[in-house]
Amino acid sequence: MRLPSGVVTVLAVVLNTGVGHAAPAPSQGSPPPPLPPGVSATLWKLSVPPGSEPTPEKVALGEKLFREKRLSADNTVACMTCHEPELGFTDGKALSEGIGNQKVTRNSPTVLNAVFNATQFWDGRSATLEDQAKLPILNPREMGMPNPEAVVAKVRAIPEYAAEFKKVFGRDVNYDDLAAAIAAFERMQFSGNARFDKFITGDAKALSASEKNGWALFNGKARCNSCHAGNAVSPLFSDQKFHNIGVAAHKQDFIALARKGVQVVRTGDEKQIDELALQTEFSELGRFLVTKQENDVGSFKTPTLRNVGITGPYMHDGSLTTLWDVMDHYNKGGVPNPFLDGGMQRLGLTEPEIDDLVSFLFALTDSKYDKLNKEQLAKQRARRNNRPERDTEVALGKKGHLGDLAPNPDLHVKNPADLGIYGDVTPVAPSTQSKPR
Ligand code: HEC
Ligand code: HEC
Repeated sequence: MRLPSGVVTVLAVVLNTGVGHAAPAPSQGSPPPPLPPGVSATLWKLSVPPGSEPTPEKVALGEKLFREKRLSADNTVACMTCHEPELGFTDGKALSEGIGNQKVTRNSPTVLNAVFNATQFWDGRSATLEDQAKLPILNPREMGMPNPEAVVAKVRAIPEYAAEFKKVFGRDVNYDDLAAAIAAFERMQFSGNARFDKFITGDAKALSASEKNGWALFNGKARCNSCHAGNAVSPLFSDQKFHNIGVAAHKQDFIALARKGVQVVRTGDEKQIDELALQTEFSELGRFLVTKQENDVGSFKTPTLRNVGITGPYMHDGSLTTLWDVMDHYNKGGVPNPFLDGGMQRLGLTEPEIDDLVSFLFALTDSKYDKLNKEQLAKQRARRNNRPERDTEVALGKKGHLGDLAPNPDLHVKNPADLGIYGDVTPVAPSTQSKPR
């Protein structure tokens, strides 16, 4: 497929927001591997930095390392433990567990299509797959190795790896090469062969009437496409941006947390952010940990919706169990908080509309996971009447303060700029704001 050069430029920008990384020139190297209908060769080339094209040798070594429990302090946890290929590269748990069954404070996202992410992690703290791979090995709750030197020493002492690194990279094991091999394996984990892809490339019968109606609602009444647009240039169903949609907003006082957070965070220190994100209450500050911008408090990366049928539980904290719960969350406009994204509004969706949207979301699963997708749909449907997040009154606008125009009509007291994360700013009463002439 050929894209107009304007689109390619936009794509290059969208896909390269990682700090300090220049937009890669279109790769001169090896041609892309055979790609599924949902992934264009242009996207592939833009997403794989020149020199990082996965060679079969690197991919094979990377896969071995991805499955290697000896990369953890007590030889019990591999990348695969939390990103199980058979489970769509997730662990099926609300919160992941690392060595010694320690829980982290976040849900494991899928590695499928992570190659196309503009940034890695829920808060985008890593710019590349290589940077990303170096962190879980060293996180005390995940794989628990004390430092890169210890990892390298351990891997060098395993004769099989010593030989294979020599063969693949032409030198002794080092931490960068280890991350590069894992990243090469991950770059081959693309997915774009769902029933939706058949439908969008011309097979009108690939979706049922209910799924088609779900797709229409997705782009219309339900407004999902304002953050999760899906099309040829955005095949992940993600705008790759960060939003506060009010997940877990009822669990904390964001202002107090952000004030404390400001004292602790050293921006730019990836390792520190990793530990705060996975081991502390500051996890809930989301993107704010990376940018220290007030408007990023509680905001997280818009995740891909491909394969979402098999990657539950949902959201950065795994707090929503089914896609019906997700729909209930959106239908009521999320959970109000001072940093709620302006795009979050009550939707007034009816039960049949919610069912159609859920069927549509299940049609985004790659055909290689058909069986699991059907099982998950059945499991979730069995909970269809158990709906802790449902609030029909609010969703239909009969209750609550969420109007149709803006989530916070009383902005003069709730304007984030006046909340004083960086010191006490007493809100100015509206009457004194503009002096009479
Ligand atoms: C203990 C469970 C656990 C282990 C082990 C683990 N991960 Fe993860 N992974 C997670 C969680 C949880 C997140 C999300 C953390 C966050 O965003 O703060 C994550 C995020 C990621 C992401 C980012 C995906 C995205 O959409 O942003 C990638 C890629 C990834 N892991 C790959 C790996 C690799 C490679 C390894 C091994 C070197 C690994 N993981 C080991 C749990 C784990
Ligand atoms: C304002 C932007 C925005 C809108 C509008 C939006 N989303 Fe999201 N979506 C997000 C963000 C951001 C997250 C992650 C939030 C978090 O974890 O705190 C998310 C998470 C999700 C998830 C969880 C995925 C996972 O792997 O955990 C699903 C499913 C989802 N959205 C579907 C939808 C649907 C369906 C709609 C329309 C009804 C919609 N979204 C509207 C931004 C948005």
